[in-house]
Amino acid sequence: MKKILLPILSLTAAIILFGMAGCKPKNAGDATGSDAAARVYVPPGKYDELYNFVSGGFSGQVSVYGIPSGRLLRVIPVFSVDPEKGWGYSEETKPMLNTSHGEVPWGDQHHLDLSQTNGEIDGRWLFANENNTPRVARIDLKTFRTAEIIEIPNSAGNHSSPFITENTEYVVAGTRFSVPMDNENGDVPIDSYKKNFKGTISFISVAPTDGEMKLAFQLLLPGMNFDLSHSGKGPSSGWFFFSTYNSEQAHTLLEVNASKRDKDYILAVNWKKAEEYFKAGKGKKVPVKYAHNKYSDETHSATSTMETETTVIDVKDFPDIVYMIPCPKSPHGCDVDPSGEYIVGSGKLAALIPVFSFSKIQAAITNKTFDGDYGGIPVIKYEAALYGEVKKPGLGPLHTEFDGKGNAYTTFFISSEIVKWSIKDLKVLDRHATYYSPGHLMIPGGDTKKPYGKYLVAYNKITKDRYLPTGPELAQSAQLFDISGDKMKLLADYPSIGEPHYAQAVPAELISKNSTKIFKIDANKHPYATMGEKNAKVVREGNKVHIYMTMIRSHFSPDNIEGIKVGDEVYFHLTNLEQDWDVPHGFAVKGATTAELLIMPGETQTLKWTPLKEGIYPIYCTDFCSALHQEMQGYVRVSTKGSTVPISFSLGKNSDAADSLLKK
Ligand code: CUA
Repeated sequence: MKKILLPILSLTAAIILFGMAGCKPKNAGDATGSDAAARVYVPPGKYDELYNFVSGGFSGQVSVYGIPSGRLLRVIPVFSVDPEKGWGYSEETKPMLNTSHGEVPWGDQHHLDLSQTNGEIDGRWLFANENNTPRVARIDLKTFRTAEIIEIPNSAGNHSSPFITENTEYVVAGTRFSVPMDNENGDVPIDSYKKNFKGTISFISVAPTDGEMKLAFQLLLPGMNFDLSHSGKGPSSGWFFFSTYNSEQAHTLLEVNASKRDKDYILAVNWKKAEEYFKAGKGKKVPVKYAHNKYSDETHSATSTMETETTVIDVKDFPDIVYMIPCPKSPHGCDVDPSGEYIVGSGKLAALIPVFSFSKIQAAITNKTFDGDYGGIPVIKYEAALYGEVKKPGLGPLHTEFDGKGNAYTTFFISSEIVKWSIKDLKVLDRHATYYSPGHLMIPGGDTKKPYGKYLVAYNKITKDRYLPTGPELAQSAQLFDISGDKMKLLADYPSIGEPHYAQAVPAELISKNSTKIFKIDANKHPYATMGEKNAKVVREGNKVHIYMTMIRSHFSPDNIEGIKVGDEVYFHLTNLEQDWDVPHGFAVKGATTAELLIMPGETQTLKWTPLKEGIYPIYCTDFCSALHQEMQGYVRVSTKGSTVPISFSLGKNSDAADSLLKK
């Protein structure tokens, strides 16, 4: 026991020591070069060079920054409700957050992957994972909106996700926590882990035309923790690599018990082979329950379908799908270089970085250079798969990206630095401190065949003294480096939203050229759309009242409504008639227990409201849309439950009753 604890304790000591040293970095002042300000300065009115999509961690959202300015362009609501845009509150978006557990209004969003064609970013979609209630989202980069969310059954802690294949054939999702499968009795003792707990890797197919996701099949694997992954490319096309830890199969005090073995594994998965078996009808269909939610830009509404079946392929029955490669010290990052030949495993507690060779892995498989098996899966001999080791690179390697010029860049959490090394000769070329303790790093296109290789952003886990203090909670920091020369240069340092993990970036042009500016009103197929002010109306159906309301600068139609009764379910169906870019209107009603809504030009959105008390309720536009934005308002009269006040609605005129009063 002592032997196991000692290295852990010394590591903890190292963390404390480095942490303390990190508080007062000696070279923080000279970290930025003299021309750094000019390198990140984007003049007013000019665009940034790249879009940077950054995961929001426990915020459940995705944020979009400009590089090199570090300007925040947008926060895209994905897994968490967002009262700013009404996401998850409007009737149209509520189904997007539906799961087999009911509505889940938050998420823990860790990794992002941009869609690829031939191993290069194609600018169509951005995929995002959710850890806690396993889900994968697809964001449409025309609208910067979440278009689809699929839940993943037989999974818990969707961490090695959502990583995609070279042509976006599949989004792949590995489970972090092994658990009993959904269709089995899960009411088992926790210490029956070895017997009852299993891991899965899910392959979600992506339709090439519209991106629609579908859970194709799942691979069943021995119980352990699956961490991160990346797809093969070039020579390793058709393969996927996953890091794993807890091959000890511990279920308690993992900090110690899952750190006992010197090596865990990287899984090499021949997904083409698995697909072949799946297409040949192999595997077992098992009953499960998972939500599949889709948003339509035609109906401006989402639908949620509960799916009931998945195909599970037990890899021990198909021995040529998965191979295990020993990898030192609880590997975290699992990164494939642009050539597709080298696979880098980053052991969280390792003092070296192993680089595996795909061709050597293939030779080892052919020659059966195995070292026994793990749960029925052949284990390739470490030396047989190894290209070489980067010696003494730093402490606590986590993630690696590539610049496309033969260099790799790895983050070191414990020694709080980024280390540049050569893939060919495995020599350390440069190192630069980060402030502090980086998790992921990102080079635009750095996990594809074609990295852009000019910038690198480190996403730091600890901020400490970098910004003005804001109480106990600090924003996490992102740091932009110039990697165009031999030495890394720190250019800028800016706060980020939530807790960023992985990120992606792409030259702006690839996305901006396709950006949607408005929704065409003529194409609006929302069942409650109001096509033109003249069609505005209020319709009572029992205790439900549907208000067909339009918005245009600067009024609602209708803006006076009477005949609503306490306890009615009132649906404000708001259609924004504008057809100009950047003219959204907002909507709010006093006492609304949900959120306000922001409705884009040509779009219809619905707010449900249940008034509890009679009275006059103002409504107004929440988005400053014109000089007379403050005039964009109206009134709703709510009468008692038994009232006989009829439904009436108007714009710009008094009611008949009011007119006759005025004449007297
Ligand atoms: Cu419409 Cu402000």
